[in-house]
Amino acid sequence: MDASQIILQTADRVQDLLSGEGTGHDWFHIERVRRTALAIARDEAADPFIVELAALLHDVADWKFAGGDHEAGPRQARAWLESLDVSAAAIDHVCGIIAGLSFKGAGVPTVMATLAGRCVQDADRLDALGAIGIARAFAYGGHKGQELYDPAVPPTPHDSFEAYKKGSASTINHFYEKLLLLQDRMNTATGKRLAAARHQVMEQFLEQFFAEWDGTR
Ligand code: ADP
Ligand code: NI
Repeated sequence: MDASQIILQTADRVQDLLSGEGTGHDWFHIERVRRTALAIARDEAADPFIVELAALLHDVADWKFAGGDHEAGPRQARAWLESLDVSAAAIDHVCGIIAGLSFKGAGVPTVMATLAGRCVQDADRLDALGAIGIARAFAYGGHKGQELYDPAVPPTPHDSFEAYKKGSASTINHFYEKLLLLQDRMNTATGKRLAAARHQVMEQFLEQFFAEWDGTR
């Protein structure tokens, strides 16, 4: 099967799996990450085939929805790509990217070994920032039953993945525990530029949120 057929079939399969998903990991998230990752890959001269496949498959079985199983995502991606006769090297590369993509807490480095991986990681992180990032955070928080905000509970700078996985006390805390930290963790020049603009949007949102909370605006 040629590369464009592999991409087409993978996109169809992921669209079937994730359409209508309600926590912000839906097919439209995948489409945005795919488009952004490919744009970054062009700027960085990364392998577009690997980048597109990893972007398409990165959330098919996220550990947060697979009973905490960290291997589920890479395992399902591998089984799918093997069924399409993708080369072993490309499968290892794509599955390595998927395994290493996630944020794991403020104090836990998440280093991507390859250029293609750094493009996909930036694109996925960009979709957690800005207006869409704000919308996704509250969608996810609602799904988890998290409070919007509790002024009595300060954010926690998690220093292990285990601690981070237990989640945030509130969705506003998630901004301080993850979202506002991402701009300094971007890998590529394009990623950094886009992240800076989206970071500003979140800062403005939080300023307005707290002013309304206090009744001063
Ligand atoms: P990653 O791509 O690093 O794995 P996630 O899948 O954890 O990111 O995050 C996907 C979306 O869900 C992001 O927009 C993120 O902000 C949101 N999210 C994850 N955990 C929480 C949380 N505890 N509260 C609110 N939003 C969250
Ligand atoms: Ni994602």
